[in-house]
Amino acid sequence: MKPLIIANWKMNPQTLAEAKQLFDSIRKGLENIKNSEVIICPPFLYISNLKSNILNLKLGGQDCLWEKSGAFTGAISPLMLKNIGCQYVILGHSERRIYFGETNEITNKKIKAALFADLKVIFCIGETETEKKKGETQKVLENQLKEGLNGILEREMENVVIAYEPVWAIGTGNPCNPEETKKTALFIRKIISELYPSIISDNLKIIYGGSVTGENVAEYSFKSGVGGFLVGGASLKPDEFVKIVKIVSQS
Ligand code: PGA
Repeated sequence: MKPLIIANWKMNPQTLAEAKQLFDSIRKGLENIKNSEVIICPPFLYISNLKSNILNLKLGGQDCLWEKSGAFTGAISPLMLKNIGCQYVILGHSERRIYFGETNEITNKKIKAALFADLKVIFCIGETETEKKKGETQKVLENQLKEGLNGILEREMENVVIAYEPVWAIGTGNPCNPEETKKTALFIRKIISELYPSIISDNLKIIYGGSVTGENVAEYSFKSGVGGFLVGGASLKPDEFVKIVKIVSQS
């Protein structure tokens, strides 16, 4: 399986011109890298202006609603993302949970709708610093997985990627160390094996996110055994992001 590297631009950059420039620089940097799949997730507004002409560079949304269309002011539906050329959508990101009050139940509805619209889902889970300090990491992850995937069919799981993103590691410059990430990825796979047949849990792609940089990604690629990365801050620096993709593609 090719490693998967997701660029989560969040609410950046501030102008379309900058977004186009950033996208083009990344696209040029990736032209000769075949051994990985790269998904750029820009703010919704920019998506239709960014076109990839290379196979291993795709587009994704950072969120979507659970409905197809209708009176939902300000919202974007999974079908809209699909129709504008997205193949992926990030759901359950901790910033959606923290700033927009999204619960496991809401995330679950969104996952169902996105899969129904034929999008691949990057389902984010992760414990906060307080939960970690209280020794609740496994309990939190187990709940997020069980409630987030409630009712998701076996055949739909082929289109789900789990992103382990400890909240305390996001944007802090303090990543979870590779050994701990590896242990947590094993735990996630174990929970999935309780919910689905082994063909699903064995083949499930689990990626890591939280302060991944060009400096630390090599160590992760070799030691953590994850199938890719979700990159926030470093995905806004084209040289660094391309460096991350190159390192992951070679490992
Ligand atoms: P970061 O963000 O790489 O800036 O820590 C990761 C994420 O939120 O997906």
